[in-house]
Amino acid sequence: MHIFPTISTTFIVISAIFVAFGWYHIVKGNEALHKKLMITGAVFALLFFIVYMSRTIFEGNTEFNGPEGMKLFYQIFLTFHIILATVSAVFGITTLVLAFKEKFAKHRKIGRITATLWMFTAPTGVLVYVLLYILYPGGMSKPMLDVIFGW
Ligand code: HEM
Repeated sequence: MHIFPTISTTFIVISAIFVAFGWYHIVKGNEALHKKLMITGAVFALLFFIVYMSRTIFEGNTEFNGPEGMKLFYQIFLTFHIILATVSAVFGITTLVLAFKEKFAKHRKIGRITATLWMFTAPTGVLVYVLLYILYPGGMSKPMLDVIFGW
C-alpha cells in the first residue's frame, strides 16, 4: 500500500482545483470567494508538503521500478517536477504575502505566474505518481538524495 504518496498526490490535485476556481472567480470580480478559494488551495498545498516531508524523513522516497531504458527519463522528469514545485512554493508564499499586505497590483502580476506554475506542477506530480506506482510496481524506499540522483 502506498497510502502516503496517494494522499499527498490527492492533496496536490485538490489544491490545483481550488486555485483554478479561485482564478476563475477573481476574473469574474468575486474577491471574497477568490480569497477563500485561494487560502483553501494554499492549505491543501501545505498539507501536501507536510505529508510528503514526513514520509521523506521517516521512510525515504521510492525508487523508480520501471524499465532500465526509462530510468534516465524518469530522473530528468522528477528533477523538473521538484524544481517546478519549489519555484511554485516560493511564488505562492510571495503571492499570499502581497495579498495580505494589500499590494494588489503586484499580487495580480505575480499571482498569474503562481497560478500558472501550479497548473503545471500538479499534473507533473500526478505523472510522477503514475510512473512510480501505477504503470510499474513501486520499488524500495531509499533515502531522498539516492532517489533524486538515481544512485
Ligand atoms: C496563493 C494564493 C493566491 C493566488 C495564486 C492568487 C492569484 C490571483 C490572480 C491570478 C489574480 C489576477 C487574476 C487575473 O486578472 O487574471 C489575483 C487577483 C486578486 N487577488 Fe489573488 N491570489 C491568491 C490569494 C489571494 C488572497 C489571500 C487575497 C485576499 C487577501 C487575494 C486577493 C486578490 C485581489 C483583491 C485581486 C484583484 C487585484 C486587482 O484587481 O488589482 N488573492 N489573484
